[in-house]
Amino acid sequence: MSITGIVNPGPPVARLHSLRSVSLLVPDPKSMIDFYTGTWGLSATDQGDDVAWLRGSGQEHHILHLAQHDQNALGKIVFALDTRRAVDAAARGLERLGVAVVREPGPLDDAAGGYGLQFVDPEGRLVELSVERFAVSARDANGRDAIPRKIAHVVLNTVDIDAISTFYCDVLGMRISDWSEHQMAFLRCNSDHHVIAFNQAPWTSLNHVAYEMPSVDHFMRGIGNLRRAGISPEWGPGRHGPGDNTFSYFSDPAGLVCEYTSEVAQIEEDSWLCRVWPRTPELSDQWGTAGPPTEKVRKHMAGVPDAGHLARLTKTA
Ligand SMILES: [Fe+2]
Repeated sequence: MSITGIVNPGPPVARLHSLRSVSLLVPDPKSMIDFYTGTWGLSATDQGDDVAWLRGSGQEHHILHLAQHDQNALGKIVFALDTRRAVDAAARGLERLGVAVVREPGPLDDAAGGYGLQFVDPEGRLVELSVERFAVSARDANGRDAIPRKIAHVVLNTVDIDAISTFYCDVLGMRISDWSEHQMAFLRCNSDHHVIAFNQAPWTSLNHVAYEMPSVDHFMRGIGNLRRAGISPEWGPGRHGPGDNTFSYFSDPAGLVCEYTSEVAQIEEDSWLCRVWPRTPELSDQWGTAGPPTEKVRKHMAGVPDAGHLARLTKTA
């Protein structure tokens, strides 16, 4: 039986507007806050002991939330919907499908406010659908600073790439833009080629989080800033085949993988056809500049098995 348990999904429960933010749980948030607000280019909108909400140059209140946990884990993924009615309708749709809604629609009590719901996907990831979050004014005084604009995408390791991709398409209305053989599936919710990708793996975990730079120039400046701080790319810079985006991967202080990217392909919904990309060096690195990924980054992309949100609740109850 499929990990989703859903047989006749009916229409999607929501129309996702965008990927808003990611929450990461780590043993030592302070070192992560220093890294992401220092060299990486984010800044804190709000901060407490062992917790921070970090923004990029765009108008989202935060794109990265960091909090404390005894091992690395994905805290949650947050998507934007457009209206409260859409959040309410999504809750009814999820309940109809038997998907565990762990927070009913209502005011959200974190630093960004707003209204939303939370549910758990079939592999235990906490997903939040939200509207009316606090905005912040755009930041980047001289227009050339290497400040990520937003989360470009999150790659998630899955034990069942077909079932989990089907869940996100059937339930959340996402579309598969491309496959990398039967190893990776790239999913979109708007014109960006992908905001989520699933990677077939031995266990469920976070593979990496990618931050979008406004241009290749900003992308290269960001890499330069890291190099000046003594941090070299673990893979890249290069340009991927699927998605056509630039890439440069680094390890953060928690041993999670972060990526600078730019220029992801824009999809025309009516004309796009999903393709299957062979996993050849020329197609995963079009420029031929990246070289192979380091052993270290491969290990960090595999991550540690993530028991998921409900298991964490049980453990702390
Ligand atoms: Fe990526």
